[in-house]
Amino acid sequence: MGSIPAGFGPAPNGALEIERHPVGYWIEKAGGTPLFLYDVERVEAQVAAFRRVMPSRLKLHYAVKANPFGPLLDRMAALVDGFDLASRGEIARVAHHDLPKSIAGPGKSIADHEAALRAGVVVHVESEGEAQRLCDVATQVGIRPKVAIRVNPPFLLKGAGMKMGGLASAFGVDAERVPNLVAYLLDQDCDLRGYHVYAGSQSLSAEAIVAAQAATLDLVVALTAQTGMVPAEVNLGGGFGIPYYAGETPLALDAVGEGLAQALSRLPPDFAETRLIVELGRWLVGEAGVYLTRILDLKESGGQTFAVTDGGLQHMLAASGNFGQFLRRNYPIANASRMGEEATVPMNIVGRLCTPLDLLGDQVSMPEDTAVGDVVAIFCAGAYGLTASPHDFLSQPKALEMLAQSQG
Ligand SMILES: Cc1ncc(COP(=O)(O)O)c(C=O)c1O
Repeated sequence: MGSIPAGFGPAPNGALEIERHPVGYWIEKAGGTPLFLYDVERVEAQVAAFRRVMPSRLKLHYAVKANPFGPLLDRMAALVDGFDLASRGEIARVAHHDLPKSIAGPGKSIADHEAALRAGVVVHVESEGEAQRLCDVATQVGIRPKVAIRVNPPFLLKGAGMKMGGLASAFGVDAERVPNLVAYLLDQDCDLRGYHVYAGSQSLSAEAIVAAQAATLDLVVALTAQTGMVPAEVNLGGGFGIPYYAGETPLALDAVGEGLAQALSRLPPDFAETRLIVELGRWLVGEAGVYLTRILDLKESGGQTFAVTDGGLQHMLAASGNFGQFLRRNYPIANASRMGEEATVPMNIVGRLCTPLDLLGDQVSMPEDTAVGDVVAIFCAGAYGLTASPHDFLSQPKALEMLAQSQG
């Protein structure tokens, strides 16, 4: 099992404490379980750490796909420099926030383009065909499009959980095709802002992230030499990971900051005004989220104990190992009703779906007195939780979501 993120421990009553209250307080406030609870102070601490360590000119955009819960986005808007979006649904979710926004993703429809144009969102085009369609829609609606080219880089983010470069890809335009596309977009009088390079997600290696960022800057400098266009903005991607599993350790943020500062110091003077961006999702919100689910039944079978909960993979697919993982491993899990007690008894934490895949914890240690009615906490649930899960499957009750904030 992975380590519980630092700072989570027992309240005086022995239950898991979140934002100075035992979980029972939050569950009552929210109206029950299953519940995703997001600790805003943890998100604020991540942003503060980023600002402390990363070069000051670097802008921080929040990748809304990681967690699009409305109240969280509203808090996020005060903390970050922009939003990275992936659909017109996400555009709508942050429409009331006046921050820089961009939309990326293959297969954008005419309706997506129109929504982006009307909302002033920078469109990261992923192919020549998309560029053409965007220009056509822009002419029809009479809005000069803000565009950046998403480049499929000739390198990848080494060791990343999800690699998005160095391969044939649905994402981005192969680097050697970019100069022609630049010429096309300039010819169409687009507001061509620059480039977006996303080499992968979920890396815990500062060295790999720094290498990808440096390679991105080299690529952009080379494209600038080829095209003569100095980009107004360059989105360097992200990929900052969090430890989910046994043996994983947190990303060394200081080392990323130092490496990036060095890479920036090598940039030609032409780039002095270029807006440099990283877009992060899980690193900002992942560890701030706890998924809470109540034990409905405890049963023995084949010499094993099963704790059957009111949750399941329909809310927290990733914890069941079915969200793109090669190997099923346990997220950090604890009995949130008995944090003070020693966890010695192996149990399977399951949901109530009609499939053995609905396994949230495989032989995780729980306290001996674990009982029906106790609440199980799955940590690292703040990113790719509810909206990355098939929550209509079996029409079980929806999970609740709430910000844990002591005021209001
Ligand atoms: C283009 C792009 N940006 C940002 C992200 C966010 O990644 P993460 O939540 O790991 O930071 C992703 C993840 O798939 C992505 O594809």
